[in-house]
Amino acid sequence: MSDTTYRKICVTPEKFGSRDFATATSIVDVKLPSIPPGRIGVRVRATGIEASDIIQMAGGYGPLAGKKPVSAHDGTVQLGDLGCEGVGVVEHVGEGVDGSWKIGQAVMWAGFGVSFREYVVLDPAGEDFFDATKVPSAKPEWTAVPVSAMTAVGALELVGHIAKGQTVLVTAAAGGTGHIALQWAKKYGARVAGTCGSEEKEQMLKDLGCDVVVNYRTQDVEAVLAKEFPGGFDLVYEGVGGRMGNIAKRLLGKAGTLVSVGSVSSDYSGATKGDQNPDPPHQPLATQTHAGFFMPNGKNYPEWPRLVQETVDAVASGAVRIVMDEGCKEFNGLEGVYKAQARMRSGKNVGKIYATITPA
Ligand SMILES: NC(=O)c1ccc[n+]([C@@H]2O[C@H](COP(=O)([O-])OP(=O)(O)OC[C@H]3O[C@@H](n4cnc5c(N)ncnc54)[C@H](OP(=O)(O)O)[C@@H]3O)[C@@H](O)[C@H]2O)c1
Repeated sequence: MSDTTYRKICVTPEKFGSRDFATATSIVDVKLPSIPPGRIGVRVRATGIEASDIIQMAGGYGPLAGKKPVSAHDGTVQLGDLGCEGVGVVEHVGEGVDGSWKIGQAVMWAGFGVSFREYVVLDPAGEDFFDATKVPSAKPEWTAVPVSAMTAVGALELVGHIAKGQTVLVTAAAGGTGHIALQWAKKYGARVAGTCGSEEKEQMLKDLGCDVVVNYRTQDVEAVLAKEFPGGFDLVYEGVGGRMGNIAKRLLGKAGTLVSVGSVSSDYSGATKGDQNPDPPHQPLATQTHAGFFMPNGKNYPEWPRLVQETVDAVASGAVRIVMDEGCKEFNGLEGVYKAQARMRSGKNVGKIYATITPA
């Protein structure tokens, strides 16, 4: 980034539709925009990586669905820009912005196309699907809050109606959103089971207080959990889909609620690591609830501002621990986003995947 230009990652129009991040995108240099009234200009320190970045990039949902990426770039957020969660520091404050926003303030935000870039202009009064929110520091940890944490908290609270002492299953429990879901459930005194796919992840889950940890690569998930939780689960937080999704549905208690947040086993390219199986879809009982939660819809709930504040406080105080994937430590600059995307595709991450765009 210079005094007059900055860089961002955009979908390359001729490659639009590809699900290979390295092929489908490029880094472009653009003019630093002027700051319109009511907006703040933010230097991006770090971006989170989401399993869904690839679907958005290929037009599966979000602004590119049914549209085409732009071919002429400017400094604004445009069709084809990527990255949906960031943390950074306010560098410019536009006219008329509420006086609590000052230069140097650390901020986190989420939206479409707003974080695979060195600089972004935000509306502090309300972004796409998550308001720019002041945070105590611009550490990469805060990239895990607007989407990963708020999906966990929103799903468990608003759709799952989590209650004290329940039994809770979290799939992909060592991932960006899963490890927060498990800690949120523990705050309610839940007995929590988590699934994962490596010994390192097993250890992480035990460290975070997960009561029953199952490695689906070495253990029979269904047999282990059916024995440990003979009455089934009161609440399931499910983000894997495929075979794991079917198992989770069969493990749901007779009056249980399963909240589906995604299908990471099939999201990336159609190729999976074998998580799909031909099990017939599970038919829920009339007494069971199968529902979904999509974080951008959080804003539709009156409880949302309170839940956001409670989550920020829980992370700031350490009551909820954000685990940042060690493998991402050296992923720097926009080039680091490419490495972080490959890391997401590998499934090896322990905790939140991120790239440091501008080291402090
Ligand atoms: N609804 C929403 O608003 C929302 C928001 C954020 C995330 N999500 C969803 O939540 C789920 C988890 O997302 P995340 O960002 O927290 O990702 P993540 O869990 O940090 O990373 C993905 C994990 O999924 C597991 N996995 C299972 N099958 C895989 C496969 N075929 N390829 C690669 N990994 C595989 C891997 O862990 P294992 O060792 O356990 O296999 C991997 O570490 C995704 O479905 C995502 O779309 C939904």
